[in-house]
Amino acid sequence: MLVVQKSTKKESARTLTLSDNTTGKSFELPIINGTLGPSVIDVRRLYVETGMFTYDPGYTSTGSAESAITYIDGENGVLLHRGYAIEDLAKHSNFLEVSYLLLYGKLPNVEENKKFTHDVTYHSMLNEQVTYFLRGFRRDAHPMAIMLGVVGALSAFYHDNIDINDPRQRDITEHRLLAKMPTIAAMAYKYSIGQPFIYPRNDLSYAENFLHMMFAVPAEEYVVSPTLVRAIDRLFILHADHEQNASTSTVRLAGSSGANPFACIAAGMASLWGPAHGGANEAVVRMLQEIGSIERIPEFVRRAKDKDDPFRLMGFGHRVYKNYDPRATVMRQSAHEVLEELGSRDEPLLKLAIELEQIALGDTYFIERKLFPNVDFYSGIILRAMGIPTDLFTVLFAVARTVGWLAQWDEMIADPAQKIGRPRQLYTGPAERKFIPIEKR
Ligand code: CMC
Repeated sequence: MLVVQKSTKKESARTLTLSDNTTGKSFELPIINGTLGPSVIDVRRLYVETGMFTYDPGYTSTGSAESAITYIDGENGVLLHRGYAIEDLAKHSNFLEVSYLLLYGKLPNVEENKKFTHDVTYHSMLNEQVTYFLRGFRRDAHPMAIMLGVVGALSAFYHDNIDINDPRQRDITEHRLLAKMPTIAAMAYKYSIGQPFIYPRNDLSYAENFLHMMFAVPAEEYVVSPTLVRAIDRLFILHADHEQNASTSTVRLAGSSGANPFACIAAGMASLWGPAHGGANEAVVRMLQEIGSIERIPEFVRRAKDKDDPFRLMGFGHRVYKNYDPRATVMRQSAHEVLEELGSRDEPLLKLAIELEQIALGDTYFIERKLFPNVDFYSGIILRAMGIPTDLFTVLFAVARTVGWLAQWDEMIADPAQKIGRPRQLYTGPAERKFIPIEKR
């Protein structure tokens, strides 16, 4: 058995000593400090030195990458992108500026912003051939299935001509993906309701253009509401990146083999789709509709606490945040603004959400487990009030998260220490046994 003895406290060369009480041998593991947050124990030589692996399913104690993009302090509800607080970015910035920040590490100046906006906007159209591919889906296909298929299919359009080791080519790929995601999302929606596809308009902002492609029809003029543009833009900012979550880790793992970036983003989308991750916003609205009235909240809270009932309060809890998710605070305020502007019939749903939040936050089960509302608790209410159908919610999350996936993918490819990701395992299956011919089994 390996016993952790103690860590020496020297700042510059801190190590953790492990000793094996069977062999009497001990090993020093270096400790590495980051700019902020917990230090990490460098176990890269552990197997070579000890013949043992670490075991951490769900990666609750594992740092999988060195990254300079996003920092989360889950205990205190802090989220920083390249050092900037998410609340400041949501209040003062816009999605393309935040995209630049994530990709290039700094806020753009006027010229850089103009060039970046142009470079991204320039790629908003899709190869016309994609529309034929898209038409092959059933009309009632889930839009995430369509998005996944179309983004994966883009690798066929941009494969042989991408050298991922060339930073300029990575740049162009990132602009392409960032630009085309809203177009694909809107097309998936239009297809599901049988309306003609609306082509992008490069004179509109990123968020405006998205709403235009979603809601315009060729027969009428469509005027985009500035409040809704701001709400969508803010929603995109709040979902842009979240360090090494499941979908981002999927993109990194897929990309670590040198795979086509469009295929890697499609892999990230697959991971995002699950209800424990990006699918939660959809699940929150369905849950609120199922609860239906304030009187029924206690019944659902009771079910969420019952270990024999698989029901969980959707939009509550987070692997990293053990405090209020800072994105949820902004989202809550945004929900009020949007519903006020629209005078929406969804007002009762918001009231229900606020009441549910209050009841859960005062319940010892949720207090003891540090379960707070996460970003998805209010985002679904906003989207629904804007007329965006429930099964498109995760698609919007994917549109916003694409820039985070790209920034993390780029950081990984550019990292000289990068290797193909290859975890090991604790094998608990049968030991080697003899093959028995079928007639003797
Ligand atoms: N409702 C009721 N109980 C919960 C909930 C919930 N939403 N979330 C966690 N718990 C309980 C869980 O049963 C466990 O209790 P116990 O210790 O008694 O066994 C304890 O809290 C810890 O939960 P966990 O499942 O070990 O925590 P995790 O870090 O593995 O899971 C989570 C995190 C987000 C998957 C989980 O909280 C959850 O399923 N939440 C609902 C889905 C949701 O809102 N997901 C969106 C996440 S934020 C957006 C994103 O990242 O995509």
